[in-house]
Amino acid sequence: MQIKSFAIEQFFARYEFSSPYILCASDCETINVETLLRMAGQSLSDLGALSLSYTESQGHPALRQAISQGYQLATADDIVLLATPEEGIYLIMRTLLEPGDHVVVLTPAYDSLLNLAEHVSGNVSQWQVQPGDSGWQLDLSQLEKLVTADTKLVVLNFPHNPTGFLPSQEQFQQILTIAQKHGAWLFCDEMYRGLEFDSRQQLPSAVDAADRSIVLTGLSKVHGLPGLRSGWLVIRDEQVRNELINWKHYTSICAPAPSEFLAMAALRAQDQLASRSREIIRQNLIAASQFFDRWSRLFEWRPPQAGSVALVGLNQPSATAYCHALAQETGILLLPSSCMGYGDKHIRVGLGRADFVRNLAHYEEHLLASQK
Ligand SMILES: Cc1ncc(COP(=O)(O)O)c(C=O)c1O
Repeated sequence: MQIKSFAIEQFFARYEFSSPYILCASDCETINVETLLRMAGQSLSDLGALSLSYTESQGHPALRQAISQGYQLATADDIVLLATPEEGIYLIMRTLLEPGDHVVVLTPAYDSLLNLAEHVSGNVSQWQVQPGDSGWQLDLSQLEKLVTADTKLVVLNFPHNPTGFLPSQEQFQQILTIAQKHGAWLFCDEMYRGLEFDSRQQLPSAVDAADRSIVLTGLSKVHGLPGLRSGWLVIRDEQVRNELINWKHYTSICAPAPSEFLAMAALRAQDQLASRSREIIRQNLIAASQFFDRWSRLFEWRPPQAGSVALVGLNQPSATAYCHALAQETGILLLPSSCMGYGDKHIRVGLGRADFVRNLAHYEEHLLASQK
């Protein structure tokens, strides 16, 4: 059975490894294995001694124990290690949904959050983040209308990719209350949680704030380790967890042993990794807002509130045509909003990479040269 094209990943697959000036990545600056091990107080020979046998399907008990320390209500038993964060989205949709089940998805969304829900249930309502005068916003009265007694699942993602929207603590509580009023499951993608610009903004994990909630996170964004392909779900409901682990036997069986080993190292070094990512974003954000101010004829800048990405209005007939031509002619990579099912008038920028300022300067040279 066909599924919609995974537009974001198709776009990156086409350009990511041949474009020297990437300005739209959602991950944060990475490090190599040696540096990670040094940060964690370990050596390369520790990794060398690792056995490459199968790992435990639910994940190594010590790793699950370390992960559970990040949540108030979750224990090691509630954690399910994944072979990739992406796998978690597939497994949740397969486990929770039957054809016809009603799902509400926060949009624009990372493709799989929307496309897999549509593929499995065929009955999705979109709750759209809206452009406001000075930032992005959510209309909670709309969510009140969308969630009904028939709603099986509400899919959220905060901090939000691609807008960088983050609700206030009060709004978040209201969203959870609305989602749960009718007994719907809540699936909160927290891949960017930890990248708040001010630590007081950080929302509680949904798993600590609401019953019938399931959380996805991983090490790709905040920790800057996307090549580890390490992520996990937090599922406190035993029946759902067991059903999901059964689905997982059909996808990966268990997480790769080297990823588990290095994930453990990443948790030891997590404060250092996360504050490094936040500092890179802080500096890039200053450069980005000055750049978009200078080029306000071409762009409409709505600053993100958290995370590593921002969605910027583009004053061009087609963002898709613009981004493809830019990539092919200059090697500068911006992601068109058409890849996120959000019209054709926006681009996503990614603020987590160390070469962002250099690449933005290169883009500015190109813009200046095209004016002549
Ligand atoms: C919101 C969101 N969820 C999940 C993922 C998947 O993460 P990974 O690529 O590490 O599997 C991404 C990746 O961009 C994402 O933005």
